[in-house]
Amino acid sequence: MDESPTLELVTHGVAKGGEAVAREPDGRVVFVEGALPDERVMVEISESKKGFLRGRATEILEPSPHRIDPSCAEVANGCGGCDFQIASPEHQLELKRVIVTDALERIGKLEQIPDIVTVPLPASGYRTAVRCVVSDGQAGYRARRSHEPINIDSCYVAHPLANELIQTGYYGTASEISIRVGAATGERLVVADSSSLGAQVPSDVVVVGEDELKAGRRAWMHEIVANQKWRISAGSFFQTRQDGAQALVDEVREAVGELPPDARAFDLYGGVGLFAGTVFGPDHHVVLVEQNASSVADAKVNLEGRNVKLVRSKVEGWSPKRADVVIADPARQGLGRNAVSRIAATDAAVVVLVSCDAASLARDASLLARKGYHLDSVTLVDLFPMTSHTETVSRFSVQM
Ligand SMILES: C[S@@+](CC[C@H](N)C(=O)[O-])C[C@H]1O[C@@H](n2cnc3c(N)ncnc32)[C@H](O)[C@@H]1O
Repeated sequence: MDESPTLELVTHGVAKGGEAVAREPDGRVVFVEGALPDERVMVEISESKKGFLRGRATEILEPSPHRIDPSCAEVANGCGGCDFQIASPEHQLELKRVIVTDALERIGKLEQIPDIVTVPLPASGYRTAVRCVVSDGQAGYRARRSHEPINIDSCYVAHPLANELIQTGYYGTASEISIRVGAATGERLVVADSSSLGAQVPSDVVVVGEDELKAGRRAWMHEIVANQKWRISAGSFFQTRQDGAQALVDEVREAVGELPPDARAFDLYGGVGLFAGTVFGPDHHVVLVEQNASSVADAKVNLEGRNVKLVRSKVEGWSPKRADVVIADPARQGLGRNAVSRIAATDAAVVVLVSCDAASLARDASLLARKGYHLDSVTLVDLFPMTSHTETVSRFSVQM
């Protein structure tokens, strides 16, 4: 590398991945891991590209007033799980508001951006779904900037029912496991990437291997959100915190607003039915579109007795019909051009978009704008405190 491997820099902003942003003397942008905006730091450069550099703060010469000591002891042990542990909870929320606003301005190129409303949620013990790496039968996480497994005494963000399984469980020959717990039901499910043989966990925990799932075994747990019980199978998506699922339901309901009694709606990327089952009334005609067979099977159980038609399909292959409102909650890559064209073909007056990535939100907002949809509001629901991940509920409406 031509550049000096260590630079003294002053950071001025925050990037989508949670790194602070600085500028090198020659004008190139430097993304700095382990720093906050408005800090003077020594940066060890690890990557040098034509347009930007990337590095890690090795010394904080002038700290931000918002810097705190990490609440989690595992950060000092090298855990790579939570990149925002160095910022106060209020400042984390402010940084995420900046990340979303910047994305809408720079990627979405929207002319009018509404003020982003933030909904804070508790910062510890919240995660009801965690993915762990297994080494010698013990669950842990990967170290920062490495694939090396590290043992975890206690994860600050994991729900206590999940923490117990990280601390005390033995997972035999598995190399990765997914732990899911029901905060309201107390039910626990562990999916091992290979076989569940040899696992030793408390007797209430269901452990299943991917091999058994492939052979046709069904395994699930339940959670309660919006006073309803949700069946969630090993192969189905569900939000990673119970209070967060409730907050999303509240925000989506508010964004949908009052509907005529016989309104028609689509719940795209509907999962196990969380929005279809909570946002609409008994006379509304709702169609849920979801590609994953396991989720559709759960939705059938969860939405029994409701006026919801289930369509197992990719959104990109679904045939749009006229609707009053569309809810769409895509995976990280967002809607994209194809799905946006289909949504526009419904002629829905209101589109509510749930996004788990700020850049995807910005791209989708721009595509929706070209179809005549105006961005009315963006609410940032803080599903993932201590990390830079953003989750937003945005309302778009057709301008008359
Ligand atoms: C972020 S989750 C949202 C699920 C649900 N709205 C909820 O809150 O529980 C996205 C869902 O979209 C589904 N999915 C991903 N890509 C899809 C596609 N192209 N077409 C239809 N469904 C898709 C996934 O299986 C997953 O259930």
